[in-house]
Amino acid sequence: MEFQTVLDEIDAEIRPLLGAAGTVASYIPALARVPAEHFGIALRTRDGEEACAGDARAPFSIQSVSKLFTLTLAMRCLGERLWERIGREPSGNPFNSLVQLEFEAGRPRNPFINAGALAVADRLVTQARAAACGAGPRDARDDILALMTDLAGEAVAFDPEVAASEAATGFRNVALVNFMKSFGKIDNDVADVLDMYFHQCAIRMSCVQLARAAGFLCRDGAHPLRRARPGAADADACAGAVVSDRQTRRINALMLTCGTYDAAGDVAFSIGLPCKSGVGGGIVAVVPDRLTLCVWSPALDAAGNSLLGLKALELFVAKTGLSVF
Ligand code: DON
Repeated sequence: MEFQTVLDEIDAEIRPLLGAAGTVASYIPALARVPAEHFGIALRTRDGEEACAGDARAPFSIQSVSKLFTLTLAMRCLGERLWERIGREPSGNPFNSLVQLEFEAGRPRNPFINAGALAVADRLVTQARAAACGAGPRDARDDILALMTDLAGEAVAFDPEVAASEAATGFRNVALVNFMKSFGKIDNDVADVLDMYFHQCAIRMSCVQLARAAGFLCRDGAHPLRRARPGAADADACAGAVVSDRQTRRINALMLTCGTYDAAGDVAFSIGLPCKSGVGGGIVAVVPDRLTLCVWSPALDAAGNSLLGLKALELFVAKTGLSVF
């Protein structure tokens, strides 16, 4: 299949629609300034072939796409213990909703809504402190940047302006983490958990970098950029694993059922791929065993998913027939 041709066709079909519908996230002031008229798409196959089109190399604020990678880090560090405080059910509610937390005693439904990601951030702060060594305290913010840099194969950084903008206006996140703390479900100071969370959301990456970084999700957990030596035994091939093959299947399952907030059912129906979206307009999607994709277009639909990003994924599935169903 000639993927470059497919992505060029999608870019040509999407470009005339830019600016026609949807709205850029405005509740985070630094995001409200991003022009809506962007579209990028990139993919990387299991074997390392890459293709991209449009604004695929332009960096953007990855926002909740970061939840995919903090979950990966937490699953890797904590294994099954992670699930003591976080569920695996779709919430059916907006990503920043507080209502379920009251009925469910401070245990978030899943790691991809804000409450769940804050609970994951708390575990990562604890983990970083426990691993602190003679050189001084370790910082969970450095751990997530190190993971993203390693997976993308190039330096990845926070956007300090976006992190500050979220810290100044993230009242719902402040409420969510305090509410969980009141149930005894947050171990660290809420300020430290929020600082980690606001920074992970403020990571800047391009579609090309994100399609690469998510590559382990189509390779049974193997590092996206490292190849097994020809003729290597299985153990050798797994030496560079990001997470195990079982954990990889579980992350893909959570992306399919919870990765696009309360629109996850519709996205499974119309696209049929595990996806994780963010209010910066990025969406990472996985064709298990084949490839990872990233699309970006800042104008969002009512659920907070990129309107044209979803449209582009629908076109990709229609043109290639690649879907889990
Ligand atoms: O916390 C927020 O509301 C944003 N930093 C991220 C929201 C987002 O991308 C969708 N959330 N799951």
